Amino acid sequence: CGIVGYVGAQSALDVVIAGLKRLEYRGYDSAGVAVLADGGLAAAKKAGKLLNLEKELTDRPLPSGSTGIGHTRWATHGGPTDANAHPHLDNAGRVAVVHNGIIENFAALRAELAERGHDLASETDTEVVAHLLAEEFSSCGELAEAMRLVCRRLDGAFTLVAVHADEPDVVVGARRNSPLVVGVGDGEAFLASDVAAFIAHTRSAIELGQDQVVELRRDGVTVTDFDGAPAEVRSYHVDWDASAAEKDGYDYFMLKEIAEQPKAVADTLLGRIDAEGSLTLDEVRIPAAVLREAHKVVIVACGTAFHAGLIAKYAIEHWTRIPCEVELASEFRYRDPILDQRTLVVAISQSGETMDTLMALRHAREQGAKVLAICNTNGSTIPRESDAVLYTHAGPEVAVASTKAFLTQLVACYLVALYLGQVRGTKWGDEIRAVIRDLSQIATQVDQVLETMEPVRALARSLARKNTVLFLGRHVGYPVALEGALKLKELAYMHAEGFAAGELKHGPIALIENDVPVVIVVPSPRSRSVLHDKIVSNIQEIRARGARTIVIAEEGDEAVEAYADHLIRIPQTPALLQPMVATVPLQVFACELATARGNEVDQPRNLAKSVTVE
Ligand code: G6P
Repeated sequence: CGIVGYVGAQSALDVVIAGLKRLEYRGYDSAGVAVLADGGLAAAKKAGKLLNLEKELTDRPLPSGSTGIGHTRWATHGGPTDANAHPHLDNAGRVAVVHNGIIENFAALRAELAERGHDLASETDTEVVAHLLAEEFSSCGELAEAMRLVCRRLDGAFTLVAVHADEPDVVVGARRNSPLVVGVGDGEAFLASDVAAFIAHTRSAIELGQDQVVELRRDGVTVTDFDGAPAEVRSYHVDWDASAAEKDGYDYFMLKEIAEQPKAVADTLLGRIDAEGSLTLDEVRIPAAVLREAHKVVIVACGTAFHAGLIAKYAIEHWTRIPCEVELASEFRYRDPILDQRTLVVAISQSGETMDTLMALRHAREQGAKVLAICNTNGSTIPRESDAVLYTHAGPEVAVASTKAFLTQLVACYLVALYLGQVRGTKWGDEIRAVIRDLSQIATQVDQVLETMEPVRALARSLARKNTVLFLGRHVGYPVALEGALKLKELAYMHAEGFAAGELKHGPIALIENDVPVVIVVPSPRSRSVLHDKIVSNIQEIRARGARTIVIAEEGDEAVEAYADHLIRIPQTPALLQPMVATVPLQVFACELATARGNEVDQPRNLAKSVTVE
């Protein structure tokens, strides 16, 4: 969910709505606002996208005030209805609260409130907080103190932001596990789940720590822990500018973000390769000695980031000979994994907030493992709780389906693998140096792929009425196939599955029937010739059974030509780097297919960009 709070001299409603627009990627099941005006509190909320709320505000305008809060929701407790939308108010309509996360003990608290005569209108866990805040406020008379008292009674993960009509120039926020940042302006202050909501106003931000309560007034910000003791805070300057989060003339953020990939890749490499062609990852604060001693690498991530991890495994094991496991973060801690001080855990996350990944890394650290985060969001929770972080410099990614973040996660994974190889010294030293040289070319190669995408778009449009698309790959092409299928599920809502091509004969081949489109990611014939020949056989096998073959193969690979109904060329790269160029046509393919099917590209149904609940 996305949260915004504002206190200052501007119209709070304008600031809050503009902020919510920038946070809509975090959830779009419903939206709502509350403002303090004329000694009272006025609120509006609507199921569906922000646009519905804006229409409602045009039809029934709220009075104007300079303190307000807003929310855009990804539904957890209670369906996406008007009643369940945030903000939630107490019975007297004096306090309004918005919430991100899940309050685990809400049923008990709700029963308690009902016994005391409270009338709860929604099915949400959030409304409970509004009622508790109203009760506490009536005895202590101060919203920040009421918030601290309430937070001490809540279990689970939450970000809460509240206003009270009796304290008209105050916004109060609280944070446990879910994200919340403060923006400090001149005579105004902001609260938001992400700096994107306020960078149009200020670049000066404060990170909130775990279990902290913040009180925002026009002239300053006070942060305490849940017991009221003053908390230490870290201020920082946001180096993204507002225009980085605009569409820049593209129809969708996703198209813009696909196009930005060459720059994102180049930026992620910037300053990390020295003049001698070695890697300098000074920011990886894990001492070289620890990296030399590591006897196992475990990668944890979700969704697209998990696919980056699967590719990293091939690179890490090949270049460093350290065993590497990759695990879905949501499964990791529940199977009691074997970890110790010599395990290096790599947590990959674009947002740095994904709760499954955060919980996995906490579990790893509790067991004594060292955690390195690969993350795109400065100051977010996952890097802050890790021993070290390697930032990807993709810039803000707004479209829910990840594209440029994925490519930069791959770059970061290669850097980690190569760096481990470099500090530990391996027999692949020459290959490592050669790959570092090749990596500097990769941004240009991604650009070349982008310039030849028109036939891929035409192909996607021609397949708009299909129900199924299958994806096959081998070696690093296997995770690429998984990612191609995930993109298509997310965006086109089609049945799409990725398979390891070698596994085809063990089951999936039964799915092949006349004219089923199958995308095949073909390894290079130069460095993986055995695999290449095997996959060419697979293409023949499925074609003989009627499949329509869409072959992604490198320039100069002539062997595939006879069996490809559609041939998509990608530049020659070292085998392990091929996903950098092979993924791009699959992103374009999914985006165009979604458009042809009339789907919302940037905000696919039921999804959210950062999922801060487990
Ligand atoms: C959500 C998004 C996915 C993303 C995953 C992991 O499910 O919809 O696109 O890959 O979270 O996100 P992260 O921010 O941790 O990379």
